[in-house]
Amino acid sequence: MTDQPHTHQPLTASATGRPVAESRPVPQDFVLGVATAAFQIEGARHEDGRTDSIWDTFSHTPGAVVNGDTGDVACEHYHRYAGDVALMKSLGMQSYRFSTSWARVCPDGGPVNAKGLDFYERLVDSLIESGIAPWLTLYHWDLPQALEDRGGWTSRETVDRFVDYALAVHDRLGDRVSTWTTLNEPFCSAFLGYTAGMHAPGRTSPADGLTAAHHLMLGHGRVVQELRARDAALELGLTLNFTVADPVDPSDPRDVDAARRVDAQMNRVFLDPIFRGEYPADLLEDVRHLGLEDHIMDGDLDVISTPIDVLGVNYYNGEAIGHEPPSAALDDSVNGGRVTRSPFPAADDAHRHPRGLPVTAMDWEIQPEGLTRLLARLQQDYAGPAGVALHVTENGAAFDDVPDEDGFVDDRGRTAYVRAHLGAVLDAVDAGVPVRGYFYWSLLDNFEWAWGYAKRFGIVRVDYDTQVRTPKASALDYARIIATRRLPTPWDGSAGSGDGDEPAGESTA
Ligand code: FCB
Repeated sequence: MTDQPHTHQPLTASATGRPVAESRPVPQDFVLGVATAAFQIEGARHEDGRTDSIWDTFSHTPGAVVNGDTGDVACEHYHRYAGDVALMKSLGMQSYRFSTSWARVCPDGGPVNAKGLDFYERLVDSLIESGIAPWLTLYHWDLPQALEDRGGWTSRETVDRFVDYALAVHDRLGDRVSTWTTLNEPFCSAFLGYTAGMHAPGRTSPADGLTAAHHLMLGHGRVVQELRARDAALELGLTLNFTVADPVDPSDPRDVDAARRVDAQMNRVFLDPIFRGEYPADLLEDVRHLGLEDHIMDGDLDVISTPIDVLGVNYYNGEAIGHEPPSAALDDSVNGGRVTRSPFPAADDAHRHPRGLPVTAMDWEIQPEGLTRLLARLQQDYAGPAGVALHVTENGAAFDDVPDEDGFVDDRGRTAYVRAHLGAVLDAVDAGVPVRGYFYWSLLDNFEWAWGYAKRFGIVRVDYDTQVRTPKASALDYARIIATRRLPTPWDGSAGSGDGDEPAGESTA
């Protein structure tokens, strides 16, 4: 894949007006790609038989999403997928991580809708024709609303419906897609959706979040078992999102305990059942009053710990955790006036403290070294002993992009972010952690959940009035990394370089 993208500027670091920096090799077998998710890009809300998911309902609820944005149209990817695949090919992408929409394939969570599968078949065929390896995620948060009406992920019945849906997708695409991940970020589905109230379906119950987490993992395990039984050659797994929780003061036991709770309720609550077949003892102790154990049936943990082949790692930032609130908090909460609470079911005394690092437009600190530490820990404690491959399935940054009159964005902050985080992954590889690939989040600017279209993560700008796609400087830089298999260092040697007090990602240069 050596096709060059259409560029406004040559694919050299000097396009930024700065000297070409030193570079390091990217291993030849390390896969570089981009990720998206169905609800965030497809639009076509009720076309060809699709019915509503919880995100349709939630986004149409006044006050739930910034500016009242919805996924009705999004990036019109349902109709523009061929152009989007051609764009990825022009950028040299090796793999594309996307999700299928449950409500398109099984409207209302019921019988299979052939037209919905037709779309994914067209997409997958066009990826394969373009030499781009499809990486399919079955569940990226868009539960059919009809199933939520019957209890959603707090109901065990949803697990059976998830298996039906997964098998329907496999019936159609099993001969063409070799990497299948069940869930994207069950932390967000369970705890942002059922405990924090910040995501669909918008519940605010610590107990419901835990029950949902258990059932999501049960659905994951069941689907892995069924797909494995059908085809032993498939590469199966799931994607989790992680934080790296450091105590503000490592010598203060209260800060250490707050950081432990965050690690338990975000990372280990999923890792331990999946890799070890048990919930962490300290977590069970902390949440004992919330009834999780009433929902764990005999055999569940055996199903959940069914061996997998691949762990997808989503990393955006780590955090310093203290037992008291900071004087000036990092604030990425969106509630539009809605009632929300902490996503952690039992960590009320855990607070995120700024460390003086540069932040993205999400107010997320830019901390690439956290990714190196995370990968090393995952390898040592979980993936390594289980013989499971690690891939970074999401990493990326939102900035307040400013396009020029041609729609081009000279997004230096994002370019530096990608270089720094890819470097952090290669640092882990150099230290002996066998990470196999990296997917930037996201190919396109898209519907950023409760933030609607207000936050842009794409390496490709989307003009939502015209649907015109324009690769940003970061896309051109990433394409050059893929084409040359060399990673330049961030030009001034630090993540978020050049940001200073200026909004990163913008440039008048
Ligand atoms: C992750 C989600 C993805 C996107 C990024 C910014 O949590 O998986 O859909 O919203 O965050």
